[in-house]
Parts: sequence; C-alpha cells; structure tokens
Amino acid sequence: MFYEEVWGVPHNELTLANDVVHVWYVPLNQPMAAVQRFTHLLAPDELQRAERFHFARDRYHYIVSRGVLRTLLGRYLQCAPEQLQFQYGERGKPTLSHTKQPKQLQFNLSHTHERAIYAFAWERELGIDIEYIRTLDDMESIANHFFSAREYQQLCALPQADKQRAFFTCWTRKEAYIKARGDGLAYPLDQFAVSFAPEDCTPLLEVYGDTQETERWSLHGLPTEADYVAALIVEGHTWELRCWRWPDNALF
Ligand SMILES: CC(C)(COP(=O)(O)OP(=O)(O)OC[C@H]1O[C@@H](n2cnc3c(N)ncnc32)[C@H](O)[C@@H]1OP(=O)(O)O)[C@@H](O)C(=O)NCCC(=O)NCCS
Repeated sequence: MFYEEVWGVPHNELTLANDVVHVWYVPLNQPMAAVQRFTHLLAPDELQRAERFHFARDRYHYIVSRGVLRTLLGRYLQCAPEQLQFQYGERGKPTLSHTKQPKQLQFNLSHTHERAIYAFAWERELGIDIEYIRTLDDMESIANHFFSAREYQQLCALPQADKQRAFFTCWTRKEAYIKARGDGLAYPLDQFAVSFAPEDCTPLLEVYGDTQETERWSLHGLPTEADYVAALIVEGHTWELRCWRWPDNALF
C-alpha cells in the first residue's frame, strides 16, 4: 500500500478520541520560515540542545522535530505550544508535566534522516520508531549481538535481497517496544522477539518468560515511503489507528 493512501491530511479541528492512537509522519526539511517559527516555541533547554549540533541541517531538524511536537501537543491540549513543559524519565523518555487535563496525554517520537514520526494517545503507554533503510556493513553482526536467537536465525534464513529491509523492520519493532517501556537501550534487546512480517498484527511480540508482558502490548508496522520503515507499540488491544501527515503548506 502506498503511504499517501494511508496518511491523511487532517481537518483544522483536531480531536483525539479515547481508544484512538494518532500517528503523524513529518518531513524534517521544512522551509526556513517554519524553522524560525518553531524556534520561538522551544524552551531554553531545547534551544541550548539545538545549539550543540555541529551541522546546521541537524540543528534545523531538531528544531522542527521539537516544534512539531509542541504544535501537535498544543492542538490536542488546546494550549499554547510554547507553554508546555516536559519532564524526563530515568532513561530520558519525555512526558508532559503540569497539564490541567484530568487524563494523561501520552506521546512518543522518533526521527531518522529526513523524517520524524509521532504517536499520541490518552492514557496508554506507547513507543514509536522509524529508521531510514541504509547499507550497514556489519548488519549481520549487529543482529547477532542485539537480536534474540530466533530473530537472528530468521534473518539469516532470508534471501540476501530481503535482509536489509527485514533487519530494519525488526530493529524498529524492537526499539518501539523499549521506547514504550521507557527503558531505551538499557533493556536487553535479546530478551524478547518481534515478528518480521511486513504489516501483520499477530504474533506481535514475545517477551521471554513474561506472558503478561506479551499480552500487555500490541504492535503495528506502519506504511512509509519505500526507503523508511516504522513501527508502533501501544498498550492494550482495543484501540484504533489514525495516520496523519504534516500538511505541505506548513501553516498547520
Ligand atoms: C531511546 C533510544 C532507544 C532512542 O534511540 P534513537 O533511535 O537514537 O532515537 P529515536 O529518534 O528513535 O528517538 C529519539 C526520541 O525518543 C524519545 N526518547 C528519548 N529517550 C527515550 C526513552 N528512554 N524511551 C522512550 N523514548 C525516548 C525522545 O523524544 C527522543 O527525541 P528528542 O530528539 O526529542 O529527544 C536511545 O536513545 C536510548 O536508549 N536512550 C537511553 C539512554 C539512557 O539510558 N540514558 C540514561 C541517562 S538519561
């Protein structure tokens, strides 16, 4: 399925219902006017982080990724994006602090090369990951080191032409899981397995020795442009997915 068919452009009114997960697909190469507009939304610590990037392109991408995050959160929460405050978990997962909402708006984001992807839901933990598909000389040794034995065997058994996409499919699904947990790479990646199939729903995830954890989450592969792959992990199973792409006019 082409990604344009899946990623709709939203109406001006943006509402996030309970039991719905919104995912946003955003090009990081935005016009300078948009970069400047986003710069004004960032907090001092974000501006300091932006300043630390050596290359201007990386700095602009960071500003856009945070500016879009603030803009979307502001729309969902109906508040000024520049007033939002983040707090960070032990392993760096950002969450919102001090909102007046009775419910917690959960979010996660990922960026790679020229794209960012975001997920939002009320009261559900979630994690999202996107990777640009590229050549890795040491792909199989990375898989041997980080994948579970089952995943590594599955990868090795594939035809050579399918390995690169399968590697990144597996990698994004694993990262989405550890990001949903908030653990990041501190969580041992070989202690759980994900499926490799392109857009399947089950079996999604197997966490070794913990059936409750396996049942707690659902995993979705997300359709993207051909040279990207993305995955989403969400707590629970009774939710619907809506996919949005950032409007080209950048005035949203
Ligand atoms: C989380 C992690 C797996 C992300 O890897 P990545 O592929 O390089 O980056 P992605 O683009 O997919 O995601 C980055 C985003 O995930 C979010 N994030 C950061 N840490 C996170 C965590 N522990 N869990 C979930 N999300 C996290 C942030 O929003 C970040 O974007 P930012 O640029 O706005 O800060 C990796 O950075 C990691 O393991 N971090 C943990 C580091 C750690 O243990 N630190 C301890 C001291 S703070």
